[in-house]
Amino acid sequence: MEKANIDWENLGFGYIKTPYRFVSDYKNGAWDEGRLTEDDKVVITECAGVLQYAQTCFEGLKAYTTLHGDIVCFRPDLNARRMHDSALRLEMPAFPQDKFVDAVRQVVKANAAYVPPYGSGATLYIRPYMFGSDAVIGVKPANEYQFRIFTTPVGPYFKGGVKPIVIKVSDFDRAAPHGTGHIKAGLNYAMSLHAIVTAHQEGFAENMYLDPATRSKVEETGGANFLFITKDGTVVTPKSDSILPSITRRSLCYVAEHYLGMKVEHREVLFSELKDFAECGLCGTAAVISPVGKIYDHGKEICFPSGMEKMGPVIQKLYDTLTGIQMGRIEAPEGWIEVIA
Ligand code: PLP
Ligand code: COI
Repeated sequence: MEKANIDWENLGFGYIKTPYRFVSDYKNGAWDEGRLTEDDKVVITECAGVLQYAQTCFEGLKAYTTLHGDIVCFRPDLNARRMHDSALRLEMPAFPQDKFVDAVRQVVKANAAYVPPYGSGATLYIRPYMFGSDAVIGVKPANEYQFRIFTTPVGPYFKGGVKPIVIKVSDFDRAAPHGTGHIKAGLNYAMSLHAIVTAHQEGFAENMYLDPATRSKVEETGGANFLFITKDGTVVTPKSDSILPSITRRSLCYVAEHYLGMKVEHREVLFSELKDFAECGLCGTAAVISPVGKIYDHGKEICFPSGMEKMGPVIQKLYDTLTGIQMGRIEAPEGWIEVIA
């Protein structure tokens, strides 16, 4: 199959329209069969639930070309489950999880020419999303919904690829206690836009959000979970009910324990502990693992011993193992790799 004419090596994290997307409609209490379409436009009433009350959630996963030339996806069943959880929390009808995986397969296969070649450093980002599509004016859930998946080829999320970034401790909160931080609701990202624009204007790549109730514990960034390495080589990831349960983070913890024989702790992480860690990284589908070199906290700096030049050695090992599994260089745990074509 001939690949699209794209400069794969120099892609950033942006939107490039690919030929096909998947669409399914929910009406009269049921989802239809769904279909692939070339039409990238969404036409809805001005009073749609998504436009008035932000009734929308989404997912993010990637397709890869492996060393062996297969096109694969990484753990799409977990994205299906998380989107199910997001939908229910937003009073939306969940899209059936088996149909979600099937729709991912259909849309990736149809856009196979846009799955970046092995070794290019790029991947095909897959964006499933759903929204309330019929008119609501009183505050209540919509009656009709649309579920869609589009794809776009992407390069690294942060400029500079895998160079360590500098982030700041945000003065804004991302998620309220007992709120929606643990689901992938569009509203979580809308309210983070002012914080990220502010951080970028000040020269930082991302925000570190603390727990809003006490501001003493580390939560996550706008689009990735944190992962810390202690000086004796233990992987530590923050635990909180208002953090999005990252599939990348859960996979990395498994890899650390079962492939690399490391100790893993998923627990509350105090902000005051950060100065004692050896390495810090952000993990997520888009971020993969992006090393953090420095955290700026109101005039003070926390500098990790791994420095600003390259990834620390432990995070590098985790990165190599995870991407090795995704790209077919290392054998994957049972059920992690969905072969599509
Ligand atoms: N945290 C937030 C707020 C995110 O938006 C994402 C991205 O999906 C993640 C964490 C990482 O999750 P995952 O590894 O499942 O992509
Ligand atoms: C992802 O990693 O898939 C996300 O949704 C994060 C977003 C900031 C791009």
